[in-house]
Amino acid sequence: MFVRVKYLTFSVIGIMLIGIAACRNNAETLTESEKQHYLATGDSIATHAQKVLLANVGQAIQNAGVAGAVDFCNVHAMPLTDSVSSIHGVTIQRVSDRNRNPDNALQSETDKKAWQQIMLMMKDTAMKQKQLVLQQDGSVYYYKAIPLGMPTCLSCHGMKDENILPETQQVLSAKYPNDKATGYTIGELRGLWKIKMNSKAQ
Ligand code: HEC
Repeated sequence: MFVRVKYLTFSVIGIMLIGIAACRNNAETLTESEKQHYLATGDSIATHAQKVLLANVGQAIQNAGVAGAVDFCNVHAMPLTDSVSSIHGVTIQRVSDRNRNPDNALQSETDKKAWQQIMLMMKDTAMKQKQLVLQQDGSVYYYKAIPLGMPTCLSCHGMKDENILPETQQVLSAKYPNDKATGYTIGELRGLWKIKMNSKAQ
């Protein structure tokens, strides 16, 4: 009798352990060092992509004025991020709750969760890096805030009557009939870098 009770106890503990292991697997938890690795890698890739886009948009404004640069962003923003993606072997996107390009909407529940969490981080002025990693379907996703960081951004994302010239507005309306990306002020959360990484170490 005693032996049977003991056996039963061990079986129950065994099943519980298997259950815990399975849950851990389902939740796809990352260790702290894996998390730090993805945050650091994501940050350096996002910084690279940001530099490439800024340099190109700055050049386009110099060459063609703000309205002309809208054309440039329309044609080149995606291929530019794609080229940085292929250098690093990851997929880079920009997403927003008020997107200009229809392809840049928040797409998944994970995107929405990242948006909510980074919105909270935006309120924390002491926090320097507003970034996080989340997992979905076996992949790791890195997200980082894109704040409306400089006055130049306002000429295409600011207030329609105050910051955006009529000729710029005309091009924006023609290219993006469902544009939601105006009306921002400096410091607001404009979008997120979203980088899909392989689950294996990069
Ligand atoms: C010359 C006009 C122009 C300027 C200046 C500009 N943008 Fe944009 N922005 C655009 C256009 C056009 C798109 C859509 C690009 C596309 O079709 O892929 C866009 C898209 C974006 C997106 C992707 C999400 C979305 O709404 O589709 C983010 C994020 C963004 N801009 C942030 C910024 C920030 C931050 C700045 C300032 C550093 C800035 N932009 C300056 C024109 C501009």
